[in-house]
Amino acid sequence: MAENSVAPSGETAWVITGPTSGIGYRTALELAAHGTVILVGRNADKLSVVEKTITENGGHATSIVADMSDIVSVRRAASEILGLGLRIGGVLNNAGAMPATSTLTPHGWDSTFATNHLGPLAFTDALVSSLPDRANVVFICSSTEDPTDKAATRSGFRGSRYISAEASSRGEYEPGGSTQAGADAYATSKQGNLATVLSMARQVPRLRFRAVEPGFNPGSSLSRDLPLGLRIMTKALMPFAAFIPGLNTPRRAARTIVRVLTDQSPATGVYYDGTGRTMSGSERVRDLRFSDRYLAESRALLATIPQTGPTWPQDEPI
Ligand SMILES: NC(=O)c1ccc[n+]([C@@H]2O[C@H](COP(=O)([O-])OP(=O)(O)OC[C@H]3O[C@@H](n4cnc5c(N)ncnc54)[C@H](OP(=O)(O)O)[C@@H]3O)[C@@H](O)[C@H]2O)c1
Repeated sequence: MAENSVAPSGETAWVITGPTSGIGYRTALELAAHGTVILVGRNADKLSVVEKTITENGGHATSIVADMSDIVSVRRAASEILGLGLRIGGVLNNAGAMPATSTLTPHGWDSTFATNHLGPLAFTDALVSSLPDRANVVFICSSTEDPTDKAATRSGFRGSRYISAEASSRGEYEPGGSTQAGADAYATSKQGNLATVLSMARQVPRLRFRAVEPGFNPGSSLSRDLPLGLRIMTKALMPFAAFIPGLNTPRRAARTIVRVLTDQSPATGVYYDGTGRTMSGSERVRDLRFSDRYLAESRALLATIPQTGPTWPQDEPI
C-alpha cells in the first residue's frame, strides 16, 4: 500500500523499516529533516500515526505496508517503493523482534530469523540495483552476536549459534547456547545482518553498507518478551539510560543512526556503536569467508521463494 502523501520532486527520500516504535520511531522523526521519509511497517494504522506526526511538523512522509517475516510481502513493498519514483538517498533496515517463543512464517521459517535477517536481506536485494550510486544501506545490528561481549553475556546471551541458514530457518542452533528463550535465534539473526554489511560492502562497491549497534535501549519495546526479572530490571533502568555507559535512549540512538544513514563519506563495511564510534563484530563474523558463506546460504534460501506469487495472509488463506 502506498498512501502517497506529499513527496516533492527533487527531494531525497529515505527508506526506514520498523518506524512505528522505539528506535525506529525516533529515527523516522529525525530523518524528516533530511527529506521524504518512506515508512515501511506491518501495521497500517501505526504507520499513519507516524506519517501524520511527520507531516504535522512540516515534513514529508509516505507509508508502505510490509511484514518483514513474509518474503512475498517484503518484495512487493520494495517494488511499491521503486514505483514511487523518488530519488532514494539511503535504506535503513531497522525492524526487528526478539520473541521468546518461535512461530513459523508463511514459508515455514522461524519467524525471528525471517523478521530480523531474511526479510531485510530480501528487501535490500530487491532495492539495491535501483539505488543511485553512493546511496547508503544501513542495518541495525546487535552485539549479542558476539559471544565475548560482556554486557550481552551478562544478560544471558551466548553469541550467535549459527550452523547454517537452513538450520536457523528451522530454529536449530549450535549446542551450548543460551538458556533464555529466543536469545539464540535473536543473536544468530542479528549476526546475519552484520555478515550482510561486511560482504555486500565488497560485492557492491558503488553503494555504502554500514551497520549500527544502537546500544541497550531499555526504553524500546524490544524487551517485551524477556523473563519477568529482566523486564523489571529493564524498566528500572529506563530513567537512567542516558547516563549509564552502554545504555542508550531511542532518541540518542536515532541521532547516531541518522548521522550514519545520511553521511556522504565513502565509508563502507563499517560498524558503529550507538554513539557513532566504530566497533568490531565477533571474531567469526570478521572472517570474510564466514560472512560470505552466511550471506550466500541466506540467499539460497530466499531463492526458493518465487519472485512473484500470492501474499499470505491478506490474499490467500494457507
Ligand atoms: N532495544 C535495544 O536494546 C536494541 C539493542 C540492539 C539492537 N536493537 C535493534 O534495534 C532495532 C529496533 O528495535 P527497538 O529496540 O526499537 O524495538 P521495538 O520498539 O520493538 O521496535 C521494533 C520495530 O520493528 C517492527 N517490526 C517487528 N516485527 C516486524 C515485522 N515482522 N514486520 C515489520 N515490522 C516489524 C515493529 O513494528 P510494530 O510496531 O508493528 O510491532 C517496530 O516498528 C531492532 O532491529 C533491534 O533488534 C535494539
